[in-house]
Amino acid sequence: MASAPTDHRTDLVERFFRGTGSTYDFMVHAATFGIDRLWKRRMVRIVRERVGTPRAILDLACGTGLSTFAFARANPNCRIVGVELRDEYLQRARAKCRGGRYPNVEFVLSRAEAFETTERFDVVSGSYLAKYADLPPLVEQLVGAQHAVPLLVPGGLFMMHDFTLPPHRAALAVWRAYFWLLQTIGSRLFPSWKAIYEGLPELIQRTRWTSELTALLRERGFQDVTFEWQTLWGSAIVTARSPRR
Ligand SMILES: C[S@@+](CC[C@H](N)C(=O)[O-])C[C@H]1O[C@@H](n2cnc3c(N)ncnc32)[C@H](O)[C@@H]1O
Repeated sequence: MASAPTDHRTDLVERFFRGTGSTYDFMVHAATFGIDRLWKRRMVRIVRERVGTPRAILDLACGTGLSTFAFARANPNCRIVGVELRDEYLQRARAKCRGGRYPNVEFVLSRAEAFETTERFDVVSGSYLAKYADLPPLVEQLVGAQHAVPLLVPGGLFMMHDFTLPPHRAALAVWRAYFWLLQTIGSRLFPSWKAIYEGLPELIQRTRWTSELTALLRERGFQDVTFEWQTLWGSAIVTARSPRR
């Protein structure tokens, strides 16, 4: 198991997520009005359309396993590995596998950028990781520049989904009103989520994950780099295929 060194990124993740594990599943559904489920469904469909029946999927920053189990349900014969930085969330994910449920799923405690394995995956995915991640080493890891074994098979699918700042005025106004409500009412109802409600809008405004990631992927020889807006331009999915050589 790789260790998770502390830096400003992991400090931020700890500040945002500390003490939220028990309410995460409820909150992600409630705070997105159930739209998170549609985004997960879209990611599952992208895998089916572009890969068919994958042999192995790696889910980076798997949290309590919502994304991991969405892949597992759609691909019962596929090995699925979920990697997560925080033990609090990983314990919740592992608890959902008790009693022999999801025998094809394994969870590993590791920072995504430091995850090492001898396995190779047909799909490497991450939902809500990109804005926290150190993207250059993450992309290098996929093709094996820093590690002996690349995470992706040649031609494998890389897919990242995360929040974005809506580029249109009306959608941006809805986005601001939404976070204002979370900060004023949500924080009072769910104090353990206050740090996220307050910090997330600023992080989303600051991150350049879509442009940074697509540029890095192209530089590294990835093919078929695609960008797809999701609901109200509030999130996006970037996909690419690893170099075939
Ligand atoms: C909002 S949750 C998303 C969980 C899951 N992917 C989902 O879609 O529900 C974000 C998760 O990313 C984890 N995380 C953030 N940065 C990470 C990193 N560099 N490596 C691994 N996990 C990370 C956090 O600990 C948190 O559990």
